[in-house]
Amino acid sequence: MVITVPAFVPPEEMDVLLTAEQIAERVKTVGDQISQDYKGQSIVLIGVLKGAAIFLADLARSIKVDNTFDFVAVSSYGRARVTSGAVKMIKDIDNPIEGRHVILVEDILDTGLTLSYLRGLMLQHRPASLKIATCLDKPERRLVPIEADYACFKIPNEFVIGYGMDYAERYRGVPDIRIYPDNPPPGH
Ligand code: IMP
Ligand code: MG
Repeated sequence: MVITVPAFVPPEEMDVLLTAEQIAERVKTVGDQISQDYKGQSIVLIGVLKGAAIFLADLARSIKVDNTFDFVAVSSYGRARVTSGAVKMIKDIDNPIEGRHVILVEDILDTGLTLSYLRGLMLQHRPASLKIATCLDKPERRLVPIEADYACFKIPNEFVIGYGMDYAERYRGVPDIRIYPDNPPPGH
């Protein structure tokens, strides 16, 4: 198999869609909302690796109610993904969630295939409740009906990087969210 690595485009050359300040402000607001909604309860935040790691870190620090983290990892099959749900779990939760209030935390809700697959799997564990928090929502791209309970920003159909989101594993550490110039990039 030949693996081609795309040329590196410096993030400074990309247009900013959302600044670090805008993100921080909105994440704090969503954290406050979650703290209100779950007042007096304990919650489990389940982040979807790797993209949601940075959002989860910020969101958790803005949530005032008792919370713990867990992480799952899934692999999708690139362009071959179909509505049959060609998503596979490669890392499951570490701790049981039966009877717990769970929030699945994602970087971006795009076609919805990943989160509808994960939601189905998590519901099999019989949590007390299950909600979805996403940093970004691209409603135009949806292939399956699924909505986030908490979405920081709805964005147009552009491929973005930064704040945990990658293209070919790059740019996750870029502090703001930028539009990748070759949009959509190959393989997306
Ligand atoms: P979907 O909702 O199953 O299509 O998949 C969502 C996942 O696709 C996200 O967790 C990201 O990993 C990836 N993804 C979708 N859109 C973008 C984007 O614009 N930039 C980076 N990753 C994206
Ligand atoms: Mg992801």
